[in-house]
Amino acid sequence: MEISLKGRKALVGGGSRGLGKAIAIQLASSGAEVTIMARNEEKLKAALSELPANFGQQHNYLVVDFALIGQFENTLTQWFQNRQVDILINNTNGPSAGGVLVKTAEDYQQSFDLLFKTVCHTTMLALKGMQEKKFGRIINLSSISVKEPLQNLVLSNTVRSAVLAWAKTLARETAPMGITVNNILTGYFDTERLDEINRAQSEKLGISLDAYKHKMTMEVPAGRLGDPKEFGWLVAFLASDLSSYITGTNIPIDGGLLRSI
Ligand SMILES: NC(=O)c1ccc[n+]([C@@H]2O[C@H](COP(=O)([O-])OP(=O)(O)OC[C@H]3O[C@@H](n4cnc5c(N)ncnc54)[C@H](OP(=O)(O)O)[C@@H]3O)[C@@H](O)[C@H]2O)c1
Repeated sequence: MEISLKGRKALVGGGSRGLGKAIAIQLASSGAEVTIMARNEEKLKAALSELPANFGQQHNYLVVDFALIGQFENTLTQWFQNRQVDILINNTNGPSAGGVLVKTAEDYQQSFDLLFKTVCHTTMLALKGMQEKKFGRIINLSSISVKEPLQNLVLSNTVRSAVLAWAKTLARETAPMGITVNNILTGYFDTERLDEINRAQSEKLGISLDAYKHKMTMEVPAGRLGDPKEFGWLVAFLASDLSSYITGTNIPIDGGLLRSI
């Protein structure tokens, strides 16, 4: 089985590091022409230089801030005026940590803008071209927290679930058009962000970062954190023609971490 994305155009959120970058690299090495989005232009340029271009692709980047919803919507509307994409990877940064007792209604509104409105707006723009082509792959990065809510992450637990309900509804509407919509439920992946969160947690608990990481790793039946490359492989498959009968799903990638069936 060969995954070929030759001739496909992809737009990848949060593509300058972590999971987004691993996805961008894998899509590019499978032949797609990739545009990555993030805030820091220097980091975007650095990531761009790492994307394989063995098929003569012209990769690109777009500077955006998901947290500034009005500006983000304008930038994307403009960008799509003379462009189409076949593959859309909806990946934003996560909302702030905290439990129900400390969050306000305003916090939920901000998280809704960040996790839902950005995804909805970008998808609506991408759908136009996908409908014309009768091909599209919409892949949303989500979390295992939608199946088993995580402690101290009420904003993520809550708003990511709304994205899943929306994606399921959309998948049924777009299936006749050759457009699939799937969510990936992310477990623990070894990214810079996870390191930053773990460092803060280990300091809070007064233990070393290594000891904290070991404790976390032991929760995972596979006995290790995920490698972002493994995430990229799943996305490349879902982005390809080979996944044409898979839509409306929530696929965990977590080394067996989720206990629920
Ligand atoms: N890693 C895990 O184990 C894990 C587990 C469950 C869920 N997740 C979720 O998966 C997603 C990706 O995680 P990750 O670990 O890959 O994160 P990461 O390593 O922190 O990468 C985040 C990417 O998003 C960009 N970004 C951050 N804030 C942004 C903003 N306001 N506007 C535009 N771009 C922004 C960053 O670049 P700039 O800073 O330059 O903007 C970077 O390219 C997050 O939603 C996270 O909550 C991750």
